[in-house]
Amino acid sequence: MVKIGVLVSGGGTNLQALIDAEKSGIIKNGEISLVISNKKDAYALTRAENNGIKTAVVLKKECRDAREFEEKIIKLLEENEIELIILAGFMCILSADFTKRYENRIINVHPSLIPSFCGEGFYGLHVHEAALNYGVKVTGATVHFVNEIPDGGKIIAQKAVEILDGDTPEILQKRVMENAEWIILPEAAEKICKQIKESK
Ligand code: GAR
Repeated sequence: MVKIGVLVSGGGTNLQALIDAEKSGIIKNGEISLVISNKKDAYALTRAENNGIKTAVVLKKECRDAREFEEKIIKLLEENEIELIILAGFMCILSADFTKRYENRIINVHPSLIPSFCGEGFYGLHVHEAALNYGVKVTGATVHFVNEIPDGGKIIAQKAVEILDGDTPEILQKRVMENAEWIILPEAAEKICKQIKESK
C-alpha cells in the first residue's frame, strides 16, 4: 500500500470522502496513514481519530518562520514514510523547496475549474463568491499536482458543476463538494497511488 498523508485545516469533508473511499475499495492501492492539521480545533482531526488514523498538529505560531513550519511537517511525513501527500482543504501555501522535494507526490483539490478563480487568495468560500460575482454559469472542481505556483501544477482531474439562480456561496460550495470534489479527489488519489505502486 502507498502511504498517504493528508494535510487539512478545517472541516475535513474531503478527508471524509477519502476515508470512505478507502473503506469502500475505491482507493485500493493506498492507505491514509497520517493526518496533519495546522489548526488544533479542525474537525478533520476528529474525523481521523474516529477512524483510527494517526493525527498531528503543527501550528505556525509555534514556529520561528515558514521554514521551521515546513520542516516540522517534513519530519512527520518522513517518520511515517508518507509517499503521497494530499492537500484536502489545507489553507497554507507550500514553498518551492517543499514542493520540489515532493515533485509529483503532492495533490490538491481546488473548488473551481482551474485556471478560473484560483491562485493566491482564492480558497474556500472566496472561490465561490468570485464565481458568483463574475456570473459564470458553470464552475466545478479540480485535482492537480502541487508545484511552486499556487494552483499551477499539472491537472489530474476536473468535473463541472452548474451554477443555478439563487445560489449563495454556501449553497454553491455544497453542490461543488457533493457533485465534484468528493468524487474526483478519491478517484485521483487512487490513480496516483496505483502509478506510485507500479513505479516501485
Ligand atoms: C474545499 O472546498 C476545498 O476544495 C477548498 O476548501 C474546502 C475545504 O473543505 N480548498 C481550497 O480552497 C484550497 N485552495 P473540507 O475541509 O470540508 O474538505
